[in-house]
Amino acid sequence: MGRMIHANRLLIKNIGMLVGAYERAPGVLSGQDMSRVPMLPDAWVAVDGDRIKAYGLMSDVPAQETFTQVIDACHGWLFPCFCDSHTHLVYAGSREGEFRDKIAGLSYEEIARRGGGILNSSDLLNQASEDELLESASVRLRQCAAGGTGGIEIKSGYGLTVDGELKMLRVIRKLRERFPMLEIKSTFLGAHAVGREYAGRQSAYVDMLVKKMLPAVAAEGLADYVDVFCDEGFFTVEQTARILSEAARFGMRGKIHANELAVSGGVQVGVAHNAVSVDHLERITNAEIQTLAGSDTIPTMLPGASFFLGIPYGKGRQVIDAGLPLALASDYNPGSSPSGSMRFVASLGCVKMKLTPEESFNAVTVNGAAALGVSDMGVIAPGCYASMFLTRPLPSLAYLQYAYTEPLITRVILKGDSLLS
Ligand code: NIG
Ligand code: FE
Repeated sequence: MGRMIHANRLLIKNIGMLVGAYERAPGVLSGQDMSRVPMLPDAWVAVDGDRIKAYGLMSDVPAQETFTQVIDACHGWLFPCFCDSHTHLVYAGSREGEFRDKIAGLSYEEIARRGGGILNSSDLLNQASEDELLESASVRLRQCAAGGTGGIEIKSGYGLTVDGELKMLRVIRKLRERFPMLEIKSTFLGAHAVGREYAGRQSAYVDMLVKKMLPAVAAEGLADYVDVFCDEGFFTVEQTARILSEAARFGMRGKIHANELAVSGGVQVGVAHNAVSVDHLERITNAEIQTLAGSDTIPTMLPGASFFLGIPYGKGRQVIDAGLPLALASDYNPGSSPSGSMRFVASLGCVKMKLTPEESFNAVTVNGAAALGVSDMGVIAPGCYASMFLTRPLPSLAYLQYAYTEPLITRVILKGDSLLS
């Protein structure tokens, strides 16, 4: 996937169904608005460079001679790409040993307390070179793209030292250079766990994070957002508030890990600091729902982590019924969700959270884009990025989540370029 040359004028014709087609990008969808996915049968789409130019019905298809490339969709369905707003896909090694421990009955917290979990990945990451990390993350990123993901957020958080965190964020910057057809956002998650050198000295670690890590990250412009694992056994609400305030001085908004292990206060502190999103929310009460209502913070759930850890699923149904927006993301990471499949995430949204296929589709596309802080992706509309995937002809929209292991995708187009496998 090299650099793009944008003289391309592409026509996609004979589209059986154009999914998520708008006159202009609608922005985040909330409550009942999530139950609608506008669709156009027998359509064409024109792409100019990296953006969608226009679309319409095949009865009005423009003359092919004015295009440099024509793709015949053969009545397959064209979807806007998935936008995965929460991943940790830069990591070293893998943690299937802990997978065995989990099967034998240990919980995520017990594994973490024994020095496994995040610290296990941190040891491996600090031993790995920047090049090794770049190569392994590139393989994962390519797999995500082949699965229809066009926008993605990637966090640091396995360094837990100044050098380790900067190394991770530089790898993310290199991924951005290597994959210009993907929209990549980076998040500084120094407060993922207390680094080994600071074992038992959590507040000294947070001091160091605020005084050393954060200014170093900001000086190199390495992060769009800041994240804190605000949860029982990890970081407190007060520490989260401090990190969010300090990061705001550098222009970084929050994307907070909240309420995965307990009702942590992470939602409230995230909303109070105008976080872009609060994520996980496997546990949520009416108090959190009320706090989120009327805020700009997007509730984001990660059903892949619930699946893999065997913990409760977030109450996505309740959040939407309360009139709120909902985004779903993969949480791709070696410990709690070793998968970046957004189709699987969308299926879990339906099966486990009781979202309709339309709601779940909006949660992994347009609302995922909003949780990434991107306004021109995740829908098919003139002026938006031409990041889309084509499937074989489908009987209905619900088939996408229903046939959850069937390889339906026949082609992925990212910012106007076809992804070649
Ligand atoms: O989102 N909850 C915290 N962080 C990750 C897990 C990271 C890990 O176990 O390596 C998550 O689930
Ligand atoms: Fe996470």
